Amino acid sequence: MAKENKNCNLKEYSFATEEIPRLSINNPETDKRIADGLPVVITDSGLVQSALHWDLDYLQENIGDGKFTVYKSNNKRFQYFDDKKVDSCKDFQKPMEHMDLTFSEFVSKLKTAKAGKDRVYLQQALNEGVGKRIVTDFLGFNWSWVTEQQKKNKFGALTSNLLLIGMEGNVTPAHYDEQENFFAQIRGYKRFIMFHPDQFKCMYPYPTYHPCDRQSQVDFDNPDFKRFPKFKDAKGYETVVGPGDVLFLPMYWWHHVESVPEQGHTISVTFWYKAGPIGNINYPLSPQQKVSMMRNLEKMIHQALNNADEVPEFMQNMVLGRYTDPPS
Ligand code: OGA
Ligand code: ZN
Repeated sequence: MAKENKNCNLKEYSFATEEIPRLSINNPETDKRIADGLPVVITDSGLVQSALHWDLDYLQENIGDGKFTVYKSNNKRFQYFDDKKVDSCKDFQKPMEHMDLTFSEFVSKLKTAKAGKDRVYLQQALNEGVGKRIVTDFLGFNWSWVTEQQKKNKFGALTSNLLLIGMEGNVTPAHYDEQENFFAQIRGYKRFIMFHPDQFKCMYPYPTYHPCDRQSQVDFDNPDFKRFPKFKDAKGYETVVGPGDVLFLPMYWWHHVESVPEQGHTISVTFWYKAGPIGNINYPLSPQQKVSMMRNLEKMIHQALNNADEVPEFMQNMVLGRYTDPPS
């Protein structure tokens, strides 16, 4: 069980959290939560049972000699950014560096970066380049369970299985994804702090045209409550996943992920699925649909003005003094 191995090393944040339930694959509540779009840790799905023997030596021998996407950061944060949006965003400082390394180059960096500087995080989709043994392990995943979930819940196509290998203490800052995810833990412990999509107003995501689109602007370690006052009201959920655990991470749910300090490196694999067909829209809209609508409106405005610099004033003219009074 993941729980006994953690608590002492976990940082306290400014917001309260509730535990995400840990349930068996056979518990009807598990399927209900997935169907309802709520996070749940499934403790015995066997989804990546065939990969629980993966460690750095085994992977180094069998994963192939191609190049892998590795991020390097000079602090513990690994904040994703969209390279395609960097050029149109003046003064943007890349929060981490992108490198293409062989697996053994990555492993030697991981082993020498202990002092806390020059941390690395491998984030590479599993693809054809991998060796025979990894292919066998991959084919041994519990595809029947996960594919049944995909069908029952009308998810779209599987887009990718991302292999994540992180150093203890690495942090992926809070963001949401536009895909459904079964997140499978293989080695080490990861703490997930999650927020419902209805907490959008507390999380203050960057504008959609910004390279850090979908990411919260709030620094959890040092929240600027003047700029982001509603972050005080944020109510989270959390869990720690360990080897064999699978977290259902529903689309649009905020998540901040930390590889638990002092517990060694972490190995995880994601199962990302596209959103299903929209179907009939029922009113009132769900928080998820509202986030999607806000994204579309923001993108339309940006596109029509054809200049990111004009968007803030346009948005302010639209709301200041007209929609900014607190609702009565
Ligand atoms: C994800 C994710 C980050 C991490 O799976 O969507 O953001 O550090 N993972 O595992
Ligand atoms: Zn994510």
